[in-house]
Amino acid sequence: MIENFSVDHIDVYINGEKILDNLSFSVQPGEMLGIIGPNGAGKSTLLKVILGVIKPQNGTVEMTHSDTRPIVGYVPQSRAIDEEMPIQTWDFISLGLPHRIRPWLTKKDRILIKETMELTDTSRLAKKSIGKLSGGEKQRVFLAQALVRNPDVLLLDESTANLDPKAQEEITSLVQELCTEQHISTLFISHDIHLVAKYAHRVLYLTRGHYSVGRAQDIIENANMDVLYQPQHVHDALQTSVENRRYGG
Ligand SMILES: Nc1ncnc2c1ncn2[C@@H]1O[C@H](COP(=O)(O)OP(=O)(O)O)[C@@H](O)[C@H]1O
Ligand SMILES: [Mg+2]
Repeated sequence: MIENFSVDHIDVYINGEKILDNLSFSVQPGEMLGIIGPNGAGKSTLLKVILGVIKPQNGTVEMTHSDTRPIVGYVPQSRAIDEEMPIQTWDFISLGLPHRIRPWLTKKDRILIKETMELTDTSRLAKKSIGKLSGGEKQRVFLAQALVRNPDVLLLDESTANLDPKAQEEITSLVQELCTEQHISTLFISHDIHLVAKYAHRVLYLTRGHYSVGRAQDIIENANMDVLYQPQHVHDALQTSVENRRYGG
């Protein structure tokens, strides 16, 4: 289990543009933190900072585990899978195992894969080619690949986008169950306010230059819904006009 997981005073610039500005928050073991905000706000960038793929210009990510190195599971935003990709679901999930020093799988590895596939309801897909699966099936398989490493931290970037509402609910509620049971700290980015309100313990509302963290109800009530789903430049323009109206400008 993770002992401490916090993002402290992070600044990130990309091509000279400030994307994340003095961002700080922490996540508890087993907590689901929903992340919402307009396109281009820096949500995916934040997950990449936590993964260590993007190095912040200032600030740190603290992630300490009681006895080992913390393990992170990640499902990236868009994962194009070639329909002809000649890899079976079972093998694809096994690629998520950490510390693969041998080219073959141990008995323990096989048990872990089997259990993870049962949990994510992907067992019946084991022998199917990954490219041939439906959208919902693929998302379950991506989730299984992230979970098979027994992560302490799970990062989901719009993992349920483009799925029908029923499939979205099923996957998100499964994630919540697993996180609570296994004390996994989960950050999930979603554009679905209903889903976030229902499943996130707390919400991070991120826009360029501003953020707030708190209880889902409070954050969603205060977030400006008109501007939430606009691209960042439209968001900025709308926000300015809202502020001008507010201050009589
Ligand atoms: N590799 C990159 N090169 C150039 N610009 C990038 C790169 N990654 C992200 N950006 C820019 O950073 C901003 C934030 O992107 P992103 O984190 O993907 O936003 P979000 O996930 O909230 O939609 C965007 O303006 C995007 O164009
Ligand atoms: Mg994104």
